[in-house]
Amino acid sequence: MNNKNKINIGVAGLGTVGCGVINLLKKNKVEIFKRTGFEISIVSVSASNKDKKRDCDIKGLNFYTDPLEMVRKENIDILVELIGGESVAKELVIEALEKKIHIVTANKALIALHGNDISEISNKQGCDVAFEASVAGAVPIIKVIRESLNANEIEWVAGIINGTTNYILTEMLKSKKNFNIVLKEAQDLGYAEADPSFDVGGIDAAHKLTILSSICFGIPLNFKSIYIEGIEDIELDDLNYAKELGYAIKHLAIGRKNKDGIELRVHSCLIPKTRLIANVDGVKNAVVVSSDSAGPTLYYGAGAGSLATASSVVSDIIDISRKILSNSNNIIPLLSYQRDQLQNKNILNINEIESRYYLRIRVTNKPGVLADITKIFGSKSISIESILQKEDLVNDENVPIVLVTHEVIEKNIIDALKDIEKLDVVKGKIIKIRIEELES
Ligand SMILES: NC(=O)c1ccc[n+]([C@@H]2O[C@H](COP(=O)([O-])OP(=O)(O)OC[C@H]3O[C@@H](n4cnc5c(N)ncnc54)[C@H](OP(=O)(O)O)[C@@H]3O)[C@@H](O)[C@H]2O)c1
Repeated sequence: MNNKNKINIGVAGLGTVGCGVINLLKKNKVEIFKRTGFEISIVSVSASNKDKKRDCDIKGLNFYTDPLEMVRKENIDILVELIGGESVAKELVIEALEKKIHIVTANKALIALHGNDISEISNKQGCDVAFEASVAGAVPIIKVIRESLNANEIEWVAGIINGTTNYILTEMLKSKKNFNIVLKEAQDLGYAEADPSFDVGGIDAAHKLTILSSICFGIPLNFKSIYIEGIEDIELDDLNYAKELGYAIKHLAIGRKNKDGIELRVHSCLIPKTRLIANVDGVKNAVVVSSDSAGPTLYYGAGAGSLATASSVVSDIIDISRKILSNSNNIIPLLSYQRDQLQNKNILNINEIESRYYLRIRVTNKPGVLADITKIFGSKSISIESILQKEDLVNDENVPIVLVTHEVIEKNIIDALKDIEKLDVVKGKIIKIRIEELES
Protein backbone atom coordinates (compact mmCIF):
# COMPACT_ATOMS: atom_id res chain seq x y z
CA MET A 1 0.00 0.00 0.00
CA ASN A 2 1.20 3.46 -0.70
CA ASN A 3 1.69 5.96 2.08
CA LYS A 4 0.11 9.34 1.49
CA ASN A 5 3.08 10.67 -0.40
CA LYS A 6 4.75 7.59 -1.82
CA ILE A 7 3.98 5.38 -4.80
CA ASN A 8 5.51 1.92 -5.14
CA ILE A 9 6.32 0.64 -8.59
CA GLY A 10 7.61 -2.58 -10.12
CA VAL A 11 9.57 -2.45 -13.38
CA ALA A 12 9.34 -5.47 -15.70
CA GLY A 13 12.08 -5.34 -18.34
CA LEU A 14 15.54 -3.89 -17.74
CA GLY A 15 16.68 -3.26 -21.30
CA THR A 16 17.03 0.08 -23.10
CA VAL A 17 13.84 1.61 -21.73
CA GLY A 18 13.65 -0.21 -18.36
CA CYS A 19 17.15 0.94 -17.41
CA GLY A 20 16.32 4.40 -18.76
CA VAL A 21 13.39 4.60 -16.34
CA ILE A 22 15.51 3.49 -13.37
CA ASN A 23 18.28 5.95 -14.28
CA LEU A 24 15.88 8.82 -14.89
CA LEU A 25 14.00 8.32 -11.62
CA LYS A 26 17.35 8.36 -9.82
CA LYS A 27 18.91 11.24 -11.77
CA ASN A 28 15.89 13.56 -11.51
CA LYS A 29 14.55 12.35 -8.15
CA VAL A 30 14.76 15.81 -6.57
CA GLU A 31 13.36 17.61 -9.61
CA ILE A 32 10.44 15.18 -9.81
CA PHE A 33 9.74 15.59 -6.09
CA LYS A 34 9.79 19.37 -6.44
CA ARG A 35 7.15 19.13 -9.16
CA THR A 36 4.97 16.39 -7.67
CA GLY A 37 5.41 16.52 -3.91
CA PHE A 38 5.50 12.74 -3.67
CA GLU A 39 8.09 10.00 -3.92
CA ILE A 40 8.18 7.31 -6.58
CA SER A 41 9.83 4.25 -5.13
CA ILE A 42 10.98 1.32 -7.25
CA VAL A 43 10.51 -1.72 -5.04
CA SER A 44 11.05 -4.57 -7.48
CA VAL A 45 12.32 -5.36 -10.95
CA SER A 46 12.13 -8.25 -13.39
CA ALA A 47 14.23 -9.40 -16.34
CA SER A 48 15.08 -12.75 -17.92
CA ASN A 49 18.64 -13.00 -16.72
CA LYS A 50 19.57 -12.16 -13.13
CA ASP A 51 23.31 -12.19 -13.79
CA LYS A 52 23.36 -9.95 -16.85
CA LYS A 53 25.40 -6.76 -16.61
CA ARG A 54 22.95 -3.84 -16.68
CA ASP A 55 23.15 -0.17 -17.68
CA CYS A 56 21.39 0.72 -14.43
CA ASP A 57 21.91 0.10 -10.75
CA ILE A 58 19.41 -2.42 -9.37
CA LYS A 59 21.21 -3.11 -6.10
CA GLY A 60 18.82 -3.53 -3.21
CA LEU A 61 15.75 -4.06 -5.43
CA ASN A 62 13.81 -7.33 -5.29
CA PHE A 63 14.65 -9.17 -8.52
CA TYR A 64 12.35 -11.65 -10.28
CA THR A 65 13.09 -13.65 -13.38
CA ASP A 66 9.34 -14.28 -13.59
CA PRO A 67 7.44 -10.97 -13.81
CA LEU A 68 4.16 -12.74 -12.96
CA GLU A 69 5.68 -13.79 -9.64
CA MET A 70 6.68 -10.16 -9.04
CA VAL A 71 3.09 -9.03 -9.54
CA ARG A 72 1.76 -11.78 -7.28
CA LYS A 73 4.21 -11.22 -4.43
CA GLU A 74 4.99 -7.52 -4.38
CA ASN A 75 2.88 -4.73 -3.04
CA ILE A 76 3.03 -2.31 -5.94
CA ASP A 77 0.69 0.46 -7.07
CA ILE A 78 1.93 0.60 -10.66
CA LEU A 79 3.45 -2.06 -12.89
CA VAL A 80 5.75 -0.63 -15.55
CA GLU A 81 5.78 -3.12 -18.43
CA LEU A 82 8.93 -2.70 -20.54
CA ILE A 83 9.46 -6.25 -21.79
CA GLY A 84 7.91 -5.71 -25.22
CA GLY A 85 6.24 -8.22 -27.53
CA GLU A 86 2.83 -9.65 -27.06
CA SER A 87 2.50 -12.89 -25.12
CA VAL A 88 4.34 -12.43 -21.79
CA ALA A 89 3.44 -8.74 -21.70
CA LYS A 90 -0.27 -9.41 -22.22
CA GLU A 91 -0.45 -12.11 -19.55
CA LEU A 92 1.46 -9.90 -17.15
CA VAL A 93 -0.65 -6.79 -17.71
CA ILE A 94 -3.92 -8.70 -17.35
CA GLU A 95 -2.74 -10.41 -14.15
CA ALA A 96 -1.66 -7.04 -12.72
CA LEU A 97 -4.99 -5.39 -13.62
CA GLU A 98 -6.82 -8.25 -11.95
CA LYS A 99 -4.89 -7.37 -8.80
CA LYS A 100 -6.01 -3.72 -9.30
CA ILE A 101 -2.48 -2.61 -10.14
CA HIS A 102 -2.28 0.30 -12.60
CA ILE A 103 -0.20 -0.11 -15.75
CA VAL A 104 2.36 1.98 -17.60
CA THR A 105 3.73 0.48 -20.80
CA ALA A 106 5.77 1.50 -23.86
CA ASN A 107 4.53 -1.50 -25.81
CA LYS A 108 2.78 -0.49 -29.06
CA ALA A 109 2.19 -4.07 -30.23
CA LEU A 110 0.48 -4.88 -26.92
CA ILE A 111 -1.85 -1.87 -27.08
CA ALA A 112 -2.49 -2.04 -30.84
CA LEU A 113 -3.32 -5.76 -30.84
CA HIS A 114 -4.82 -6.32 -27.37
CA GLY A 115 -5.76 -2.82 -26.20
CA ASN A 116 -9.53 -3.38 -26.58
CA ASP A 117 -9.42 -6.32 -24.13
CA ILE A 118 -7.03 -4.48 -21.82
CA SER A 119 -9.32 -1.45 -21.86
CA GLU A 120 -12.30 -3.59 -20.87
CA ILE A 121 -10.46 -5.20 -17.95
CA SER A 122 -8.90 -1.95 -16.73
CA ASN A 123 -12.30 -0.27 -16.86
CA LYS A 124 -13.87 -3.09 -14.83
CA GLN A 125 -11.06 -2.91 -12.28
CA GLY A 126 -11.05 0.90 -12.09
CA CYS A 127 -7.39 0.95 -13.10
CA ASP A 128 -5.50 3.24 -15.41
CA VAL A 129 -3.38 2.07 -18.34
CA ALA A 130 -0.97 4.64 -19.80
CA PHE A 131 1.13 4.17 -22.92
CA GLU A 132 2.61 7.54 -23.92
CA ALA A 133 5.97 6.00 -24.92
CA SER A 134 4.32 3.53 -27.28
CA VAL A 135 4.02 6.16 -30.05
CA ALA A 136 6.89 8.48 -30.99
CA GLY A 137 9.00 7.81 -27.87
CA ALA A 138 9.71 11.10 -26.11
CA VAL A 139 7.14 13.10 -28.11
CA PRO A 140 4.06 13.48 -25.88
CA ILE A 141 1.56 12.86 -28.68
CA ILE A 142 -0.88 10.63 -26.79
CA LYS A 143 -1.25 13.20 -24.05
CA VAL A 144 -1.74 15.97 -26.59
CA ILE A 145 -4.55 14.12 -28.34
CA ARG A 146 -6.23 12.72 -25.21
CA GLU A 147 -5.91 15.88 -23.13
CA SER A 148 -4.71 19.03 -24.89
CA LEU A 149 -6.83 18.68 -28.06
CA ASN A 150 -9.86 17.11 -26.38
CA ALA A 151 -12.07 20.11 -27.23
CA ASN A 152 -11.56 19.43 -30.94
CA GLU A 153 -12.83 17.16 -33.62
CA ILE A 154 -9.71 15.71 -35.19
CA GLU A 155 -9.68 15.79 -38.98
CA TRP A 156 -6.44 14.05 -39.78
CA VAL A 157 -3.21 12.90 -38.26
CA ALA A 158 0.00 12.22 -40.18
CA GLY A 159 3.27 11.16 -38.66
CA ILE A 160 6.81 10.06 -39.22
CA ILE A 161 6.65 7.54 -36.39
CA ASN A 162 9.36 5.07 -37.27
CA GLY A 163 12.88 6.42 -36.84
CA THR A 164 14.51 3.56 -38.74
CA THR A 165 12.66 4.21 -42.01
CA ASN A 166 13.17 7.96 -41.70
CA TYR A 167 16.89 7.45 -41.10
CA ILE A 168 17.19 5.18 -44.15
CA LEU A 169 15.34 7.55 -46.51
CA THR A 170 17.33 10.53 -45.21
CA GLU A 171 20.68 8.77 -45.56
CA MET A 172 19.93 7.37 -49.02
CA LEU A 173 19.47 10.91 -50.35
CA LYS A 174 22.31 12.43 -48.35
CA SER A 175 24.96 9.84 -49.15
CA LYS A 176 23.58 8.87 -52.60
CA LYS A 177 23.45 5.20 -51.62
CA ASN A 178 20.84 2.56 -52.28
CA PHE A 179 18.42 1.06 -49.76
CA ASN A 180 20.33 -2.16 -49.00
CA ILE A 181 23.62 -0.39 -48.31
CA VAL A 182 22.03 2.19 -46.00
CA LEU A 183 20.00 -0.50 -44.21
CA LYS A 184 23.23 -2.40 -43.46
CA GLU A 185 24.85 0.81 -42.15
CA ALA A 186 21.77 1.51 -40.01
CA GLN A 187 22.05 -1.98 -38.53
CA ASP A 188 25.76 -1.44 -37.76
CA LEU A 189 24.89 1.86 -36.02
CA GLY A 190 22.10 0.23 -33.98
CA TYR A 191 19.34 2.25 -35.71
CA ALA A 192 17.87 -0.88 -37.31
CA GLU A 193 17.22 -4.31 -35.78
CA ALA A 194 18.99 -7.44 -37.07
CA ASP A 195 15.55 -8.40 -38.42
CA PRO A 196 14.39 -5.03 -39.80
CA SER A 197 11.13 -6.28 -41.32
CA PHE A 198 8.80 -4.72 -38.71
CA ASP A 199 10.35 -1.31 -39.26
CA VAL A 200 11.08 -1.17 -42.99
CA GLY A 201 7.91 -3.13 -43.80
CA GLY A 202 5.71 -0.59 -42.01
CA ILE A 203 4.30 -2.91 -39.30
CA ASP A 204 5.74 -0.90 -36.42
CA ALA A 205 4.27 2.34 -37.81
CA ALA A 206 0.94 0.56 -38.34
CA HIS A 207 0.87 -0.52 -34.66
CA LYS A 208 1.36 3.12 -33.72
CA LEU A 209 -1.23 4.36 -36.23
CA THR A 210 -3.72 1.86 -34.76
CA ILE A 211 -3.31 3.64 -31.42
CA LEU A 212 -3.35 7.17 -32.85
CA SER A 213 -6.42 6.55 -35.01
CA SER A 214 -8.40 5.16 -32.10
CA ILE A 215 -7.72 8.11 -29.83
CA CYS A 216 -8.18 10.61 -32.68
CA PHE A 217 -11.39 9.28 -34.18
CA GLY A 218 -13.12 7.38 -31.37
CA ILE A 219 -12.89 3.96 -33.02
CA PRO A 220 -11.89 0.68 -31.36
CA LEU A 221 -8.29 -0.39 -31.96
CA ASN A 222 -8.25 -2.21 -35.30
CA PHE A 223 -4.77 -3.05 -36.58
CA LYS A 224 -6.13 -5.27 -39.37
CA SER A 225 -7.91 -2.37 -41.05
CA ILE A 226 -4.69 -0.51 -41.79
CA TYR A 227 -3.25 -0.49 -45.30
CA ILE A 228 0.51 -1.04 -45.05
CA GLU A 229 3.43 -0.51 -47.43
CA GLY A 230 7.09 -0.40 -46.42
CA ILE A 231 9.99 1.53 -47.93
CA GLU A 232 11.69 -1.35 -49.74
CA ASP A 233 10.60 -0.17 -53.20
CA ILE A 234 11.92 3.38 -52.86
CA GLU A 235 15.03 3.91 -54.96
CA LEU A 236 17.63 6.66 -54.82
CA ASP A 237 16.32 7.89 -58.20
CA ASP A 238 12.89 8.52 -56.66
CA LEU A 239 14.37 10.56 -53.82
CA ASN A 240 16.32 12.63 -56.35
CA TYR A 241 13.37 13.17 -58.72
CA ALA A 242 11.09 14.08 -55.80
CA LYS A 243 13.65 16.66 -54.70
CA GLU A 244 13.80 18.10 -58.19
CA LEU A 245 10.00 18.40 -58.15
CA GLY A 246 10.08 20.25 -54.80
CA TYR A 247 9.14 17.34 -52.54
CA ALA A 248 10.68 15.06 -49.93
CA ILE A 249 9.81 11.37 -49.70
CA LYS A 250 8.81 10.36 -46.18
CA HIS A 251 7.29 7.18 -44.81
CA LEU A 252 4.06 8.37 -43.21
CA ALA A 253 1.30 6.93 -41.07
CA ILE A 254 -1.92 8.71 -42.03
CA GLY A 255 -5.38 8.70 -40.51
CA ARG A 256 -7.95 10.95 -42.12
CA LYS A 257 -11.67 11.41 -41.78
CA ASN A 258 -13.38 12.03 -45.08
CA LYS A 259 -17.02 12.18 -46.08
CA ASP A 260 -17.27 8.42 -46.71
CA GLY A 261 -15.27 7.06 -43.79
CA ILE A 262 -11.78 6.93 -42.36
CA GLU A 263 -8.54 6.40 -44.26
CA LEU A 264 -5.90 4.46 -42.33
CA ARG A 265 -2.69 3.91 -44.23
CA VAL A 266 1.05 3.57 -43.83
CA HIS A 267 3.21 4.16 -46.88
CA SER A 268 5.82 6.42 -48.43
CA CYS A 269 4.62 9.81 -49.69
CA LEU A 270 5.91 12.82 -51.50
CA ILE A 271 5.38 15.86 -49.24
CA PRO A 272 6.01 19.44 -50.43
CA LYS A 273 9.39 20.52 -49.11
CA THR A 274 7.71 23.68 -47.78
CA ARG A 275 5.95 21.67 -45.04
CA LEU A 276 7.83 21.48 -41.74
CA ILE A 277 7.34 17.74 -41.49
CA ALA A 278 9.03 17.25 -44.88
CA ASN A 279 12.23 18.52 -43.22
CA VAL A 280 12.23 16.06 -40.32
CA ASP A 281 15.33 13.98 -40.99
CA GLY A 282 17.29 11.09 -39.50
CA VAL A 283 15.87 9.05 -36.63
CA LYS A 284 13.64 11.89 -35.42
CA ASN A 285 9.86 11.51 -35.25
CA ALA A 286 7.15 14.09 -35.94
CA VAL A 287 3.36 14.07 -35.94
CA VAL A 288 0.97 16.65 -37.38
CA VAL A 289 -2.53 16.68 -35.92
CA SER A 290 -5.12 18.74 -37.77
CA SER A 291 -8.21 19.50 -35.71
CA ASP A 292 -11.25 21.66 -36.35
CA SER A 293 -10.53 24.42 -33.84
CA ALA A 294 -6.80 24.31 -33.17
CA GLY A 295 -5.92 23.79 -36.84
CA PRO A 296 -2.74 21.89 -37.71
CA THR A 297 -0.24 21.44 -34.86
CA LEU A 298 3.15 19.73 -35.14
CA TYR A 299 5.01 17.68 -32.53
CA TYR A 300 8.64 16.73 -33.04
CA GLY A 301 11.38 14.94 -31.14
CA ALA A 302 13.22 11.74 -30.31
CA GLY A 303 11.20 8.67 -31.24
CA ALA A 304 13.43 6.29 -29.29
CA GLY A 305 16.40 6.08 -26.93
CA SER A 306 16.86 5.14 -23.32
CA LEU A 307 16.31 8.38 -21.37
CA ALA A 308 14.16 9.97 -24.10
CA THR A 309 11.64 7.12 -24.01
CA ALA A 310 11.91 6.93 -20.22
CA SER A 311 10.83 10.58 -20.09
CA SER A 312 7.40 9.56 -21.43
CA VAL A 313 7.20 6.47 -19.23
CA VAL A 314 7.98 8.43 -16.06
CA SER A 315 5.48 11.12 -17.04
CA ASP A 316 2.80 8.40 -17.22
CA ILE A 317 3.92 7.10 -13.81
CA ILE A 318 3.56 10.60 -12.37
CA ASP A 319 0.10 11.10 -13.91
CA ILE A 320 -1.23 7.84 -12.52
CA SER A 321 0.41 8.49 -9.14
CA ARG A 322 -1.38 11.84 -8.93
CA LYS A 323 -4.70 10.13 -9.53
CA ILE A 324 -3.97 7.40 -6.98
CA LEU A 325 -2.98 9.94 -4.36
CA SER A 326 -5.96 12.19 -5.02
CA ASN A 327 -8.40 9.23 -5.04
CA SER A 328 -9.81 10.57 -8.29
CA ASN A 329 -12.27 8.39 -10.17
CA ASN A 330 -12.37 10.73 -13.12
CA ILE A 331 -9.63 9.03 -15.07
CA ILE A 332 -8.88 9.86 -18.70
CA PRO A 333 -10.40 7.07 -20.80
CA LEU A 334 -7.74 4.72 -22.11
CA LEU A 335 -8.72 5.37 -25.73
CA SER A 336 -9.54 9.03 -25.13
CA TYR A 337 -13.31 8.61 -25.66
CA GLN A 338 -15.76 7.29 -23.04
CA ARG A 339 -15.91 3.53 -23.61
CA ASP A 340 -19.57 3.56 -24.65
CA GLN A 341 -18.79 6.26 -27.22
CA LEU A 342 -16.26 4.18 -29.16
CA GLN A 343 -17.86 3.25 -32.46
CA ASN A 344 -16.83 1.15 -35.40
CA LYS A 345 -16.80 3.39 -38.46
CA ASN A 346 -16.33 2.70 -42.15
CA ILE A 347 -12.61 2.27 -42.81
CA LEU A 348 -11.98 2.96 -46.47
CA ASN A 349 -10.27 0.44 -48.69
CA ILE A 350 -7.06 1.85 -50.18
CA ASN A 351 -8.69 1.58 -53.65
CA GLU A 352 -11.21 4.22 -52.60
CA ILE A 353 -8.80 6.95 -51.53
CA GLU A 354 -8.12 9.95 -53.71
CA SER A 355 -4.62 11.24 -54.15
CA ARG A 356 -2.17 12.76 -56.56
CA TYR A 357 0.54 10.32 -57.64
CA TYR A 358 4.20 10.38 -58.54
CA LEU A 359 4.90 7.69 -61.14
CA ARG A 360 8.25 6.54 -62.47
CA ILE A 361 8.01 4.45 -65.62
CA ARG A 362 11.02 2.92 -67.34
CA VAL A 363 10.49 2.87 -71.11
CA THR A 364 12.26 2.14 -74.38
CA ASN A 365 13.76 5.34 -75.70
CA LYS A 366 11.79 5.85 -78.93
CA PRO A 367 9.18 8.26 -80.29
CA GLY A 368 5.49 7.73 -79.52
CA VAL A 369 5.96 6.02 -76.16
CA LEU A 370 4.60 8.91 -74.14
CA ALA A 371 1.54 9.12 -76.40
CA ASP A 372 0.78 5.39 -75.77
CA ILE A 373 1.02 5.95 -72.04
CA THR A 374 -1.06 9.13 -71.89
CA LYS A 375 -3.77 7.47 -74.01
CA ILE A 376 -4.22 4.83 -71.32
CA PHE A 377 -4.32 7.48 -68.60
CA GLY A 378 -6.96 9.37 -70.62
CA SER A 379 -9.11 6.23 -70.86
CA LYS A 380 -9.17 6.02 -67.02
CA SER A 381 -9.92 9.76 -66.54
CA ILE A 382 -6.44 10.44 -65.18
CA SER A 383 -4.94 13.77 -66.06
CA ILE A 384 -1.25 14.52 -65.89
CA GLU A 385 -0.06 17.58 -64.02
CA SER A 386 3.61 17.45 -64.99
CA ILE A 387 6.19 15.29 -66.75
CA LEU A 388 9.90 15.12 -66.01
CA GLN A 389 12.17 13.70 -68.71
CA LYS A 390 15.92 13.71 -68.34
CA GLU A 391 17.68 15.36 -71.28
CA ASP A 392 21.02 13.84 -70.27
CA LEU A 393 19.64 10.32 -70.82
CA VAL A 394 18.50 10.76 -74.46
CA ASN A 395 21.17 8.40 -75.79
CA ASP A 396 20.30 5.56 -73.40
CA GLU A 397 18.31 2.56 -74.63
CA ASN A 398 15.84 2.77 -71.72
CA VAL A 399 14.88 6.00 -69.98
CA PRO A 400 12.72 6.91 -67.02
CA ILE A 401 9.61 9.04 -67.44
CA VAL A 402 8.49 10.70 -64.22
CA LEU A 403 4.86 11.85 -64.12
CA VAL A 404 2.80 13.66 -61.54
CA THR A 405 -0.97 13.17 -61.81
CA HIS A 406 -3.84 15.34 -60.70
CA GLU A 407 -6.09 13.94 -57.96
CA VAL A 408 -7.58 10.57 -58.88
CA ILE A 409 -9.14 7.54 -57.19
CA GLU A 410 -6.51 4.89 -56.43
CA LYS A 411 -8.45 2.16 -58.24
CA ASN A 412 -8.17 4.09 -61.53
CA ILE A 413 -4.42 4.43 -61.12
CA ILE A 414 -4.00 0.73 -60.36
CA ASP A 415 -6.08 -0.21 -63.43
CA ALA A 416 -4.13 2.19 -65.66
CA LEU A 417 -0.75 0.97 -64.41
CA LYS A 418 -1.73 -2.66 -65.08
CA ASP A 419 -2.47 -1.75 -68.72
CA ILE A 420 0.66 0.39 -69.07
CA GLU A 421 2.89 -2.35 -67.66
CA LYS A 422 1.62 -4.62 -70.46
CA LEU A 423 3.03 -2.29 -73.17
CA ASP A 424 6.16 -3.71 -74.86
CA VAL A 425 7.93 -0.39 -74.48
CA VAL A 426 7.51 -0.39 -70.68
CA LYS A 427 10.33 -2.12 -68.80
CA GLY A 428 9.79 -3.52 -65.31
CA LYS A 429 7.55 -2.43 -62.48
CA ILE A 430 6.19 1.12 -62.38
CA ILE A 431 7.01 2.98 -59.17
CA LYS A 432 3.92 4.66 -57.71
CA ILE A 433 4.15 6.99 -54.70
CA ARG A 434 1.19 8.94 -53.31
CA ILE A 435 1.53 12.70 -52.87
CA GLU A 436 0.30 14.24 -49.63
CA GLU A 437 -0.16 18.00 -49.42
CA LEU A 438 -0.83 17.87 -45.64
CA GLU A 439 -2.76 21.12 -45.77
CA SER A 440 -5.76 21.77 -43.61
N1 LIG B 1 14.11 1.09 -27.29
C1 LIG B 1 13.42 2.19 -27.49
O1 LIG B 1 13.99 3.26 -27.74
C2 LIG B 1 11.91 2.16 -27.40
C3 LIG B 1 11.18 3.33 -27.75
C4 LIG B 1 9.79 3.32 -27.61
C5 LIG B 1 9.16 2.17 -27.17
N2 LIG B 1 9.90 1.05 -26.87
C6 LIG B 1 9.18 -0.13 -26.38
O2 LIG B 1 9.61 -0.37 -25.04
C7 LIG B 1 9.57 -1.77 -24.77
C8 LIG B 1 10.94 -2.23 -24.28
O3 LIG B 1 11.89 -1.99 -25.29
P1 LIG B 1 13.47 -2.10 -25.04
O4 LIG B 1 14.10 -1.51 -26.25
O5 LIG B 1 13.80 -1.57 -23.71
O6 LIG B 1 13.65 -3.68 -25.07
P2 LIG B 1 14.97 -4.52 -24.66
O7 LIG B 1 16.14 -3.62 -24.59
O8 LIG B 1 15.00 -5.69 -25.57
O9 LIG B 1 14.64 -5.02 -23.18
C9 LIG B 1 13.68 -6.01 -22.90
C10 LIG B 1 13.81 -6.43 -21.46
O10 LIG B 1 12.80 -7.37 -21.16
C11 LIG B 1 13.37 -8.46 -20.46
N3 LIG B 1 12.58 -9.65 -20.75
C12 LIG B 1 12.42 -10.27 -21.94
N4 LIG B 1 11.60 -11.34 -21.78
C13 LIG B 1 11.28 -11.38 -20.48
C14 LIG B 1 10.50 -12.26 -19.69
N5 LIG B 1 9.85 -13.31 -20.23
N6 LIG B 1 10.39 -12.01 -18.36
C15 LIG B 1 11.04 -10.95 -17.80
N7 LIG B 1 11.80 -10.09 -18.49
C16 LIG B 1 11.92 -10.31 -19.81
C17 LIG B 1 14.80 -8.56 -20.97
O11 LIG B 1 15.57 -9.26 -19.98
P3 LIG B 1 17.18 -9.44 -20.11
O12 LIG B 1 17.74 -8.08 -20.04
O13 LIG B 1 17.55 -10.26 -18.92
O14 LIG B 1 17.42 -10.13 -21.41
C18 LIG B 1 15.16 -7.08 -21.11
O15 LIG B 1 15.63 -6.58 -19.88
C19 LIG B 1 9.11 -2.43 -26.07
O16 LIG B 1 7.72 -2.62 -26.03
C20 LIG B 1 9.46 -1.41 -27.14
O17 LIG B 1 8.65 -1.49 -28.28
C21 LIG B 1 11.24 1.04 -26.99
